[in-house]
Amino acid sequence: MKEQVKILLVDDEHSSREPLALLLRKNGYHVTGASTGHEALQLLASEPFNIVITDLFLPDSNGIDILKEVKRLSATMEVILITGFASAETAVQAMKEGAFDYITKPLNLEELKIILAKAIEKHQLVNENVYLKKQLRDKYEFPNIIGNSPAMQQVFNLMKRVVKTDSTVLIMGESGTGKEVVAKAIHFNSSRRNQPFVAVHCGAIPENLLESELFGYVRGAFTGANRDKIGKFEAANGGTVFLDEIGTMPIQLQTKLLRILQEHEVERVGSTRTIKLDVRVISATNNQLEEEVRKGNFREDLYWRLNVIPIQLPPLRERMEDILPLARHFLVKCCEEMNRPMMNLGKDALEALEAYHWPGNVRELENVVERVAALTESNQITPADLPPNISGAFREPDEYSIRVTNSGVDLMKTVNRIEMKMIDEALNLAGGVKAQAAALLNLNRTTLVEKMRRLGMQR
Ligand SMILES: Nc1ncnc2c1ncn2[C@@H]1O[C@H](COP(=O)(O)OP(=O)(O)OP(=O)(O)O)[C@@H](O)[C@H]1O
Ligand SMILES: [Mg+2]
Repeated sequence: MKEQVKILLVDDEHSSREPLALLLRKNGYHVTGASTGHEALQLLASEPFNIVITDLFLPDSNGIDILKEVKRLSATMEVILITGFASAETAVQAMKEGAFDYITKPLNLEELKIILAKAIEKHQLVNENVYLKKQLRDKYEFPNIIGNSPAMQQVFNLMKRVVKTDSTVLIMGESGTGKEVVAKAIHFNSSRRNQPFVAVHCGAIPENLLESELFGYVRGAFTGANRDKIGKFEAANGGTVFLDEIGTMPIQLQTKLLRILQEHEVERVGSTRTIKLDVRVISATNNQLEEEVRKGNFREDLYWRLNVIPIQLPPLRERMEDILPLARHFLVKCCEEMNRPMMNLGKDALEALEAYHWPGNVRELENVVERVAALTESNQITPADLPPNISGAFREPDEYSIRVTNSGVDLMKTVNRIEMKMIDEALNLAGGVKAQAAALLNLNRTTLVEKMRRLGMQR
């Protein structure tokens, strides 16, 4: 059932207030009356209202004061003013202060009904928006980022300090370690939380488009620019820009980015007008950015500008303690989404998860849990429910641990795999020189070449 709309009706004249209140109640609204400004302010302080309808002229104050107080109290409460005579100035002032609308006496009830319906619609939309924003914030609340390991606890401590500042942050970590989650958590827990968070995936945007994506352009800047376009930096003004895969940024754009960080202003492509910016920059990289600096692919001065506060996210295989809480967290989410009772992760299954090396890190774990939750009928998860590369069924043969069990082994395949692995290792050690690799394996060169041909190892 829809919640009843609560209206505060402020009018000092009993003879006009009561009939109006009666009419509104008949239309299904919950109406509270007040006859003075003082009474209205007291009610506003003690009860939640959705809409305020107030006379502009009150014996002890005026409707504008009430309007201001309402706007101070709530971002979603709407105010409709009633004026005794149409005065353009007061109407304009009222609208400037944020009144939804005004209506002149004598009241046209049909008009009031229409205005009221629109005000309620706006109230509900804004309310919903505030609610959605809150939901988004909740998603990036620190408790929803899982990490019991000392390494992650250290990351959280750092984040808690970082959210109180505007400092530039560089997040480093392998793919799937949670770089974007951390970037969003910083934004949504900082004072910029109600301003935009704009993510740019530098590696995914073609080089020739990246500049105009980031900085925007003006009409006529280049062929095809038939209108002005706002860039990501401008779009994020007041908020945060997240530059993902910063290491892939072409060198000439690095220069432009450096200027933004130094001067806090941007020019659209094809324009000389500078636009002031107030943007926090968080960037992320999964390659060793320092290495790129050494190779001359990344400007060193920019590196230091971006790396004011470094946050290093450890790979999942280095924080085994996090595997169980993360798996549980994703299981809860999946089971809720699928409307099934919470599943239980068996001890053997957990051991298999902890033994796996997780090249795709948290994202891979999330995918595995999703898959298991979707495919497992029983509420108890066993190793057999896990993908074979994790449960060990297809584990790379480890030369020292191969056992023939009741389920049997494929001798030829296993031997071939071991041969290939050892030849590969020998070739790597020998820098690809077959004669040397053969010597390492105590074979002669032709035998090695023949084996490689038979195994299909064309290097
Ligand atoms: N500590 C965590 N707690 C809960 N969920 C997490 C955590 N870390 C990562 N995730 C989840 O794992 C997935 C991958 O995270 P994210 O996209 O932030 O990784 P990334 O480091 O940006 O990866 P890539 O380098 O591939 O872009 C997301 O679905 C995210 O919600
Ligand atoms: Mg990412």
